[in-house]
Amino acid sequence: MKIGFIGCGNMGTAMLNGILQSGLVTAQDLTASAKSEETRMKIKNELNIRPADSNQEVVKCSDIVFLAVKPQYYETVIAEIKDIVKQEQIFVSVAPGKTLAWLEERFARPVKLVRTMPNTPAMVGEGMTAYCTGARVTADEKEQIAQICRCFGRVEETDEGMMDAVPAVSGSAPAYVFMFIEAMADAAVADGIPRAKAYTFAAQAVLGSAKMVLETGMHPGALKDMVCSPGGTTIEAVRTLEKTGMRSSVMEAMRACTKKARQL
Ligand SMILES: NC(=O)c1ccc[n+]([C@@H]2O[C@H](COP(=O)([O-])OP(=O)(O)OC[C@H]3O[C@@H](n4cnc5c(N)ncnc54)[C@H](OP(=O)(O)O)[C@@H]3O)[C@@H](O)[C@H]2O)c1
Repeated sequence: MKIGFIGCGNMGTAMLNGILQSGLVTAQDLTASAKSEETRMKIKNELNIRPADSNQEVVKCSDIVFLAVKPQYYETVIAEIKDIVKQEQIFVSVAPGKTLAWLEERFARPVKLVRTMPNTPAMVGEGMTAYCTGARVTADEKEQIAQICRCFGRVEETDEGMMDAVPAVSGSAPAYVFMFIEAMADAAVADGIPRAKAYTFAAQAVLGSAKMVLETGMHPGALKDMVCSPGGTTIEAVRTLEKTGMRSSVMEAMRACTKKARQL
């Protein structure tokens, strides 16, 4: 299986690293293109895979092609490659807002399409990828894509109707989790904890809490209650977070994210 990436920035690199580390395919089976010479050098020297001279070259030598450019470049990139696509190739979008129908219209021919929404924790094998497939993708091909995405984390097949809501809770979510970690660390530093230790404490608290949600299957509210002793310190923090609108702030942010995804 030959896998190509058109675009190799934050997301492409994270996914490629996961694929390489998994051993699913060898470096010889991978190729990637980018706009700048600087990134092409990174593809060659840091990922140790073959940089392609053009997007068309990626298409010519791949069975599966990930379109890992920013959403605003999809139209130009598809126009560049659409005339050389082969019927058996699979094209995988990673962009928010670009529907299967929109993609198919741009290719202007019958093409096997997969729409995904990954996230950057793929870089450490803890990504989350939602995906849905177009009508021409067979069950075996669907499994092939899921297998690739499992190289860098969890995978969930998702109805296309829900895909615009996925960036807010998954694709974009690491940004606000990082802000939360940074804010906790800043407060810890203000209380005298050295900066490096503060990041370790804050990040491990997030990692451990996330694992508890995923592994116990318990309601997050019940897990929160377990930390709050009557008259204790934690409930004081929880009360203050409620007073300052933490939940509604997160929900408003996510609503803005989904609104933007629908406009792309
Ligand atoms: N970052 C995230 O957390 C995240 C999460 C979920 C989904 N996504 C989606 O992933 C896609 C890529 O995002 P990103 O964050 O990886 O962006 P990025 O870091 O800006 O990377 C974009 C890549 O595309 C390359 N590129 C730009 N124009 C090109 C062209 N015409 N032909 C070939 N390559 C071209 C760039 O080349 P140069 O390096 O030479 O500029 C760069 O390598 C987007 O659709 C985004 O919505 C991102």
